[in-house]
Amino acid sequence: MKAIIRTKAGKALSTMAVQELPTAHLQPHQIKVKMVSSRINPVDVDLMKGMPFLKYKKPQIGGIDGAGEVVAVGAAVQAFMPGDQVFFYRKFSDIGTWAEEITVNASDVAKIPQNISVTEAGGIALPLLTAYDALLQLKAQPGEKILIHGAAGGVGFQATQLAIKMGLEVIATAGEQDIDLLQKAGVNTIINYKTQDFLREVAPQSIDYVLDTVGGEVLKKSLALKPKKVVSVHYVDTSKMIKTGVKLPGLLKWIMKMMMSKFSRLAKKHEVELIGQVTGADGDLLQQVSTEVNQMDFTVKLSKTLTLNQIAKQGMSQQDVGKVILFQ
Ligand SMILES: NC(=O)c1ccc[n+]([C@@H]2O[C@H](COP(=O)([O-])OP(=O)(O)OC[C@H]3O[C@@H](n4cnc5c(N)ncnc54)[C@H](OP(=O)(O)O)[C@@H]3O)[C@@H](O)[C@H]2O)c1
Repeated sequence: MKAIIRTKAGKALSTMAVQELPTAHLQPHQIKVKMVSSRINPVDVDLMKGMPFLKYKKPQIGGIDGAGEVVAVGAAVQAFMPGDQVFFYRKFSDIGTWAEEITVNASDVAKIPQNISVTEAGGIALPLLTAYDALLQLKAQPGEKILIHGAAGGVGFQATQLAIKMGLEVIATAGEQDIDLLQKAGVNTIINYKTQDFLREVAPQSIDYVLDTVGGEVLKKSLALKPKKVVSVHYVDTSKMIKTGVKLPGLLKWIMKMMMSKFSRLAKKHEVELIGQVTGADGDLLQQVSTEVNQMDFTVKLSKTLTLNQIAKQGMSQQDVGKVILFQ
């Protein structure tokens, strides 16, 4: 089978190459999946560059999420059977979805929502799980207001649709090109982040929550709005990193805490509860959000796609982040 593997450390996606590999042996707790699609997520760049605390396989297949069709199940697996269309997100310590056929722990897997295609499901697995997990942590009530940054991005657009389904009023930040998409999804207030300053557009304490997918100054300014809670994908809560399958060494934990302290201090000053979002591999949670999506009028923002043949010819680069790899 063909797989996209990391040929060198330290160069992110530019050293990825398509190679022929034998298919993996199926363990009792795993399922074998014929892959259909997988998103090139921002985290794939960091994972392929190299994280010092990760042990890479030789060869290391890229990719952390995706979707496909079950072709075989291990002896201990009861929840899935051949023919099921599934999607999944894996641990950092267990990456490798960019291949025509993969084995994956059944505990990371969920059945796709019936109202989207398997190709679409593979294009949103990690963003959807992240958006749902982040929103659940807010424990928001219908009628409350949430400001979602990057509301048309992978995480942001899934979060926007889920938040509306939860009965929240969404205020979105996005670029000009995505205003129409967000209006169609039911967002009434959209702030163009390229031409408007959301600090001027949103009055302090007028919103209950912020979902931050951008970080840096955007996170700092969000805290200054004094909502009840801010959940940020860029605020690293080291105590949750174990969800990714990574046990951070003490020194690294301390360095990360120091790097995050400017945000923790600001949160304290403004009396905001700041929650760091760390998405872990969790098939049960993915199944829960899959069921939610199934009950919604859900839109998948069409991404650009890449085939294995295209990648074999032209390689991969930073420009490919956000695109969806098609394996068939
Ligand atoms: N902590 C976790 O567990 C976790 C999990 C998943 C993702 N993440 C992180 O979450 C981030 C977003 O991921 P993604 O997959 O959603 O990325 P994405 O699809 O590239 O979306 C990012 C969105 O943010 C918008 N944006 C950029 N700058 C902005 C600004 N200043 N204000 C408002 N919006 C802005 C972009 O708009 P344009 O198109 O106009 O540039 C784009 O729509 C990444 O950094 C990723 O690593 C973290």
